[in-house]
This record gives sequence, C-alpha cells and structure tokens, in this order.
Amino acid sequence: MKKTIVLKVDAENPEIEVIRIAADTIKKGGLVAFPTETVYGLGADALNPKAVKALFKAKKRPLDNPPIVHVGHIQDVYRLAREVPPKAEKLMEKFWPGPLTLIFKRSEIVPDVTVSGLDTVAVRMPRHKVALALIRESGCPIAAPSANLAGRPSPTTANHVLEDLNGRIDVVLDAGPTNIGVESTVLDLTVEPPQILRPGGTPYEVLREVLGRVELHPVAVADKKVHVDRARSPGMKHRHYAPKAKMIVIEGDLETVVKKIAELVDHYKQRKMKVGVLATDETITSYKADVVKSMGSRKRLEEIAKNLFRLLREFDSEGVDIIIAEGVPTEGLGLAVMNRLRKACGYRIVKASD
Ligand code: TXA
Ligand code: MG
Repeated sequence: MKKTIVLKVDAENPEIEVIRIAADTIKKGGLVAFPTETVYGLGADALNPKAVKALFKAKKRPLDNPPIVHVGHIQDVYRLAREVPPKAEKLMEKFWPGPLTLIFKRSEIVPDVTVSGLDTVAVRMPRHKVALALIRESGCPIAAPSANLAGRPSPTTANHVLEDLNGRIDVVLDAGPTNIGVESTVLDLTVEPPQILRPGGTPYEVLREVLGRVELHPVAVADKKVHVDRARSPGMKHRHYAPKAKMIVIEGDLETVVKKIAELVDHYKQRKMKVGVLATDETITSYKADVVKSMGSRKRLEEIAKNLFRLLREFDSEGVDIIIAEGVPTEGLGLAVMNRLRKACGYRIVKASD
C-alpha cells in the first residue's frame, strides 16, 4: 500500500506549486486523481504504457474498457487521431472545453493498452481550471477514467475518491465538489450518422441541433440488459455505478410511481429491511421509509444530475439494505441520469401502472 497525498487546490486559481507536484507525479509514471467539471478522474500519462497499466490495476478495471484521453489544447487531438473529420472540428470549436468525449481513429503514438487494443481513441478537453493546468504542466495527454473502483458510483468529491482509492494512488487534488455530477457524453464520430455511446453532460438535444443527425446507441437508452458487440462499445457490458445496497428503479407517471414506491416501502419494511428512497423535492414528503433523500427538483434536472452519485454513496454509508429510486424524465440531463440509475440497479426496473 502506498501513501496517498491529498493536496487542496483552488478551483478558480489553481496554485502553480501544487499543480507542479501533481504534474511531476504524472511525468514519473504516477497516478493523480483530479477534478473535472463532470466527476473526479484518475490520471496517468496516456503515452506511458506502464503508467496506464498501473491505472487499470489501481481501479481494478477490466483491461478491455479503455479510459478517456484528456487534452489541454484542441490541437493535441491531431497527434492522437489519424483523421479529424470536419464534424469533429465543429464540435470541438463549439463544446470544448466541456463534457463531450469524441471517438476518433487513433494514431500510432497511442499505446495499445491506453485503448484496450481498439483502433479508436476517446478524447476530451475538460472545462476545469485544475484539470487543464495539470494536463498542460504535465506536457502529455492524460488518460483518466473516473476515479472510483470499477463498478462503484463515480466520485464527485475528493472524499469519494479516498473512499475507494486511498493507499492505491499517489496524489489527490482536492478542489471541492464537481459541478455537473455525471460524466461526459461519449460520441462516436467514426460512424455515420454519429452515435452517442454514453449520454452525459452534453445533452442529446443540443448535439442534434448542431449535427442534424445523431443516433443514440441502443444500450445508452436501454431499460433492460442488451447484448453488446464488444468491438464497438467496450465499456457497456460491465456493471456500473452500483451501490452496495440492492436497488430498484420505479418508472412511469409520477402519481403512480409514488403509490408504487409507498407500497414497496411497506413490503420491505415488513421483511425487516432498512429501506431507502431516492425521491425528488416534489415527492419527498410522500414516503415513510427509514432514509429518504431528494435528488433535487424535477424542474431542474441539472441539480438531480449533480447530486445523484453522492446520494448513492450516502445510502451505503447509512447502511440501507434496499434503495427504491424514482425515475425522472429522459430529456436534457435526465437521459444521463436515467442511464446511470438503470445501470446502478442492474436493470431491476418496475414500470408502475394502475
Ligand atoms: O466525464 C468523464 O468522461 C470522466 C472524467 C474523468 O473526464 N471520465 C470518465 O471516464 O467517465 P471512464 O473511463 O469512466 O469512461 C470512459 C467511457 C467508457 O464508457 C468507455 O467504454 C468509453 O468511454 N470509451 C473509451 N474509449 C473508447 C473507444 N475507443 N471507443 C468507444 N468507447 C470508448
Ligand atoms: Mg467510469
């Protein structure tokens, strides 16, 4: 076990001395967790195969699920990608830095392990001053999956990172909670029309406005397990975001959902289970469970996105046996929220109806 150093850093004006310590760690092949606008990432030099192997190991991540490569400038993409289509240039211009990851055909400088042997690479430029300072000071692209143990909810604070990875990584840069709370949207530009492989911080509706045509991969919107072709979408088949408690998601119109959840709360309480409900501001007073938490208002899906992963972790620390969660509308950031909720519950979904 190594000693993990936690360094506080100002989110708006990152102290250069602190950034240098973290950048030196990256340059030497070490592992640094850092904030982005979406979630905390666990970074390693993307061009150093040994460092990237250590990254997979620290996270206990399956080797067939490649991380995202983070860049500090748009022009860095031209070194990593073999082809940069005009659509990509338009998207980078409009959305970078920001929560949009683009899939390109990879160039020969990208090591096999960084892309799990695929002939494509996922790249994004994060919109966070600490992340950008770290990447630029390190002088290399940084491979960074979310900084959680594989399968667990993604971290939105430095403490979440430590819960999973203390003693397994070198440095954590702590700049407070992240802003968006769900990960970036992953968009595949190697197919026509472009396809969203993972809904995230850049909504589908916004991409459609810019691109005209864009498709959602069936797994991105699935409400049950879908068989995936390994070659196209590596990470989709793995379990994700799961709390330790058993979890169920209830979907349908709100009134029926509330009724169904109240019924289920009674049912599980009779079985002497400690029951948690993941509710919204509009419904929080409707439940008599052991622990009831609100994700935020249904009118502000971005607030729900921001709170989601933190609340899943909180239910675990309070030791609930089962989490019953309300579904939310799948518009805007709601699509990313539903994708995470459905995966978190392992597709144990109840469609509420009268
Ligand atoms: O917001 C985010 O994207 C965060 C922060 C840290 O930037 N990162 C993140 O990374 O969520 P990760 O590794 O947890 O998720 C990367 C996703 C996975 O679903 C993976 O399968 C997919 O991107 N991916 C990576 N390379 C790919 C490729 N070449 N083709 C298709 N999907 C790829
Ligand atoms: Mg992840």
